[in-house]
Amino acid sequence: MVELGPAFSPGWLPVTILSTIGILTVLYAVQCLYSFLTLHLLTSKYPLNNYKRGGSECTHALITGASAGIGLSIGKALVKQGFGVILLGHLPDELAQAKTLLQKLAPNAQVRVIVMNARTATPSEMDSAVQSLSDLQVSILVNNIGGMPIKLPPFRMFATYSCDDIDATINQNNRFMARLTTLMLPLLTKKEGGGRSLILNLSSAAYVGMPYLVMYGATKGFVNSFSSGLARELCSPNTPETNHIDVLAIIPGEVHSQGNAHGVSASEPTSDVFAECIVRKAENAVKRNKRELRPWMMHDFQDWVLSLLLEGIRTREIGKALEYKKDCFNGVWEKSMKDR
Ligand SMILES: NC(=O)c1ccc[n+]([C@@H]2O[C@H](COP(=O)([O-])OP(=O)(O)OC[C@H]3O[C@@H](n4cnc5c(N)ncnc54)[C@H](OP(=O)(O)O)[C@@H]3O)[C@@H](O)[C@H]2O)c1
Repeated sequence: MVELGPAFSPGWLPVTILSTIGILTVLYAVQCLYSFLTLHLLTSKYPLNNYKRGGSECTHALITGASAGIGLSIGKALVKQGFGVILLGHLPDELAQAKTLLQKLAPNAQVRVIVMNARTATPSEMDSAVQSLSDLQVSILVNNIGGMPIKLPPFRMFATYSCDDIDATINQNNRFMARLTTLMLPLLTKKEGGGRSLILNLSSAAYVGMPYLVMYGATKGFVNSFSSGLARELCSPNTPETNHIDVLAIIPGEVHSQGNAHGVSASEPTSDVFAECIVRKAENAVKRNKRELRPWMMHDFQDWVLSLLLEGIRTREIGKALEYKKDCFNGVWEKSMKDR
């Protein structure tokens, strides 16, 4: 009879399996931590340089919702990197002010404006606006417009939404973005002078589904799915002519902005700081084949923790946070109604 040596004692198989699982888990955790830290801490000296066309002409970015908040801040960050910008918004005076501000910040910056209401623009108006850019080299599209264009108060139970509220939210957060993207693809596909093209779509941490923000969160889920699908389609080997176009969903948590001015902790980033993070980290995220980028390190960490929670706990914690947010926003609205 053959005798097994000490290495083959009866418990050796489970011990070996468990230690292999343990080692693989530790390696995976180390890899995740390394990837998380390098994404957030190692940023490029020349951000988005790969998205500049060669030659003497300036490369442009079209930014929607660019007269205030994160959109305007992205404009500031891009002109500092030498891009020209096209600011799209619905209020001519605010756009003119934004243009003056950017030209003060970067005196040589090329800045154009497009006046357009994302909720009501017709396809032919949008097509004419895009055609008006055909003399420019445009390599970046930032689909930033988004919000809750519903009857006030802003934080409400879904049962109180009218059909108009539902349509307005979809039109502003999704329909405009999808239409503009398809109209812009021919311009982004052109690559005379080399370089890549980039589409950034502003989503929100609310995509996970939030009470009092059901429609807003659902439209942001659309933004994520739209971005991943488009990214995978454009990089397909069957369409080499679009392989240079990258697509990334940007997922903010709380950011101080014109539209988010109540119930935001002082530790959250301002729109300027947040936009700098987007510009510094987007290329790095694309190189790692990411479809989503949470540019602010703490938002990235919070979303990861949230994903680990059991559903009962997650529902309770999201509910508490949204009750607070609702009281802050609706409280300001109720006060303004009383003061009238
Ligand atoms: N701030 C946050 O904490 C946060 C969090 C998660 C996601 N996000 C997302 O990030 C994006 C930017 O948010 P934000 O807080 O910077 O917004 P914001 O401060 O409200 O600014 C929105 C910009 O879009 C313009 N705009 C609004 N409605 C428009 C319309 N119908 N047509 C054309 N332009 C319009 C606004 O112009 P006017 O000033 O003239 O109205 C403004 O320039 C949005 O997609 C938002 O959902 C923000």
